[in-house]
Amino acid sequence: MKYGRIAGWGKCVPQKVLTNADLEKMVDTSDEWIVTRTGIRERRIAGEGETTASLSVAAAQQALDRAGIRASDLDLILVATSSPDYLLPPVSSMIQDRLGARCGAFTLVAGCTGFVYGLATAQQFIATGAYKNILVIGAEIISRNVDWTDRATCVLFGDGAGAVVLQASETRTGVLSFVLGSDGSGAEHLMMKGGGVVMPMSQRVIDERTHYVRMNGREVFKFATRVLARAAAEAVEKSGVSLDDVDLLIPHQANLRIIELAARQLGVPMDKVFVNIDRYGNTSAASIPIALVEAIEQGRCGENSTILMVGFGAGLTWASAVVRLGALEPPRFAMWQSIPGRARVRARVAMGALSMRIGALLLPLYARVTRR
Ligand code: UT7
Repeated sequence: MKYGRIAGWGKCVPQKVLTNADLEKMVDTSDEWIVTRTGIRERRIAGEGETTASLSVAAAQQALDRAGIRASDLDLILVATSSPDYLLPPVSSMIQDRLGARCGAFTLVAGCTGFVYGLATAQQFIATGAYKNILVIGAEIISRNVDWTDRATCVLFGDGAGAVVLQASETRTGVLSFVLGSDGSGAEHLMMKGGGVVMPMSQRVIDERTHYVRMNGREVFKFATRVLARAAAEAVEKSGVSLDDVDLLIPHQANLRIIELAARQLGVPMDKVFVNIDRYGNTSAASIPIALVEAIEQGRCGENSTILMVGFGAGLTWASAVVRLGALEPPRFAMWQSIPGRARVRARVAMGALSMRIGALLLPLYARVTRR
């Protein structure tokens, strides 16, 4: 049995910050309403030239560098998004080309839960032994699909991308269990009706603004509170670890109230829950991978941490996974792994000092040679 170790991780968010104060000037809303109802204070919005592919490539490049592999080592690229650059070609192929990878690639549409669906899918290719290195990306530029005159949606969303490299490993790491769910009977609660096959793009679509995201927030809220805790508990049960063994809960960042309620229903204290919705809003399929990357960067989880991911979204869909982080350093530094904790840090400092010494010794020699 092969496990899919998270060998690399990366994220990319646009530079441009849109604050609640900015939104107060655009629609009839207030910072107070947005913060108390959602927990969002600001979000990132893609600028000119930024696309789902460009954010994905930047996030993916970081993940590849951290994994210590090249794009040409990838066996598969899987991109979860509901806001691809074009309807055709699939954005996954654009990303494969820009990265310089020579492997299969496909785009997965499962709303905000797409990244967890992607992780679970990638894990299957690794478990069967078919593939060794798989790049999983969650990326969105929802700001281009949002009606900036609709206060019920435009205050909620943000843009960004997160990526991980799953690498085959014999150690029990990566996706330990997952739960994938779908209930299409609630589809109408979160939709972009115009621009598809049923309502192709037309003047009427544009006039009625049906090509933008429309959401019945209250219904999606109720759905989330029904499925989130249950899906998370099911994944924990299937994984064979106990909820107490979970070091960090990484929920989809859609609404702080939903996150708090799910944590309460599960009995997980908020200091074990990762929240960054205040800075990014709801980045849909990108929200869990961005949160994962920040959690690692902030030391909220690390080597051998057990993470519980859970999300919900358009479809309506839900997904959860128990993921164990393995060694977080690329294999080219594998020799460091064998040195325990503090000694490893000391050894690295000593190696750094030694290489500086050697550099200092060689510099006059180099200067003499080049002067001639
Ligand atoms: O990733 C999955 C996608 N979606 C979600 O996760 C969203 C899930 N739903 C939610 O997060 C919440 O339902 C919202 C944040 C969208 C809305 O919060 P709510 O507490 O459910 O508010 P509501 O929809 O019941 O609206 C309450 C009031 C309404 O006014 P009336 O009818 O009571 O007079 C809205 O018109 O708030 C009004 N409202 C706003 N007021 C100020 C709606 N949007 C805004 C706004 N600013 N931006």
